[in-house]
Amino acid sequence: MKKLTFSWLAEDLKNSDEWIFRVDEKLASLTRDFVKDQFHLEKPLFEYSKKDFQVEPVLELIRSAVDQAMLGTGIALVKGLPREGLTELEFQKMIWSISLHFGVPRPQGKSTQYLSEVSNQGTQYRAPNGRGYSSNAKLDFHADSCDLALLACYNQAKSGGESLVSSSHSAWEILKKERSDLAEIASQPFTFSRNQEEASGEAPFYSQPLFDFSEEEKLFGKWNRNRVRTAQEIPEVKPLSDQQIECMDHLDQLLHRPDLTYRMSLEPGDLQLINNHSVLHSRTGFEDFDEQERRRLLYRIWLATPGSPQLPESWGPSFGSIESGCVRGGIRGKQYDSDCYEFEKSQAEAVGMMMPEEFLENPESPR
Ligand SMILES: [Fe+2]
Repeated sequence: MKKLTFSWLAEDLKNSDEWIFRVDEKLASLTRDFVKDQFHLEKPLFEYSKKDFQVEPVLELIRSAVDQAMLGTGIALVKGLPREGLTELEFQKMIWSISLHFGVPRPQGKSTQYLSEVSNQGTQYRAPNGRGYSSNAKLDFHADSCDLALLACYNQAKSGGESLVSSSHSAWEILKKERSDLAEIASQPFTFSRNQEEASGEAPFYSQPLFDFSEEEKLFGKWNRNRVRTAQEIPEVKPLSDQQIECMDHLDQLLHRPDLTYRMSLEPGDLQLINNHSVLHSRTGFEDFDEQERRRLLYRIWLATPGSPQLPESWGPSFGSIESGCVRGGIRGKQYDSDCYEFEKSQAEAVGMMMPEEFLENPESPR
C-alpha cells in the first residue's frame, strides 16, 4: 500500500488505515480504571500536568497519531478511548491530561478557554462575533488557529454532525493546474476578522494569503470563508475584488468535490487530530436528542507541538511566532492573565518548547 502524504484524495483515506489508530478493549478498560482511581476531578485544568496520565500504551498510540498528523497525512484518528462508564468531567480531564504529553495547549476564543466544549449552545455562526463550535450550524471549510487541533467525541448527535476533511495541499495542486490565475490570487493576502475576540493591543483583523511557502519551501494552507466575510463588515477593511470572490468560490467548490472531501462520523471514544496547515475541515449541521445528557458533545484542545515546522513569514500576524517548535497560535481572547502565562511557560518546559522571545519579555505584548 502506498504511503500517504499531505496531498491525498478522499479515496486514499478510504483505502488506507495508516492514519487510524485503535485502542483495544483491554487497554480501554485499563485506562478507564486509571482515570476512575487516580484523577482528582476538582483540580483546575492549569494544575494538571502530563504526570497525571500515565498509561504508556495509550500514549504510544497517540504519539504515533500526532506524528501521522504532523508529518504524514495531516489527519489521524484514534478510536476506542474509554467513554462508557466515564462522566463528562472524567472524559474531559482524561483528554486534557493526555494532550499535555504532546504540546502546549492554546487559548481558543473570547473567554481565553484552553478546552472548549463543542456543543450547540445556540451561537449564531454567521454573526459578526459568531463561532462554529458552539452552534449546530453547517460550517464552511476552515483551518483552526493552531498547529494541531484535537477533537474528542463524548456523544454523537441524534442526526447530522458529520465531520468533513479535505487536503489543502491537494486543493492547491488542483487549483494551480486548473486555474493558475486563481492560484496567483490565493497566494496574495486576504483579510480575516478576529470576530471580536481580539486581545487588547491586537487589531480586529489580520491579513495573510491562503497559500504560502516557508523558507524551507514547504507549502501551508489556510482558509476560513466566514472570517473573510465578517472582515468585510469592518469599515477599515478593503472590499474584496471580483477576482478574490471568484477565487473563494472556486476554492470552496474544490474543497467540496466528492473526490477531495472525506466524510466521517466521529463516534464516542474517538479522538480526531488535525494538522491545520495541510487539512481544512468542516461539519454538517446537526440535531440534538431532547435529553440534555445525550446532546452532541465533543471536547476540543488546540496545541502548539514541539516538532512543528517553521511557518511562512506571512503566517506571523495570526500565529504570533513562525519559529519551529515555538509556542504559537491560538486566540488569546479577553481574559489572558498571568495564570495563563505561567501555565504555558511550565507546560513549554515540560515538553521542551520555547516561548516566543518578545512574549517572555512582555507577556502583555500583542501578538
Ligand atoms: Fe474548526
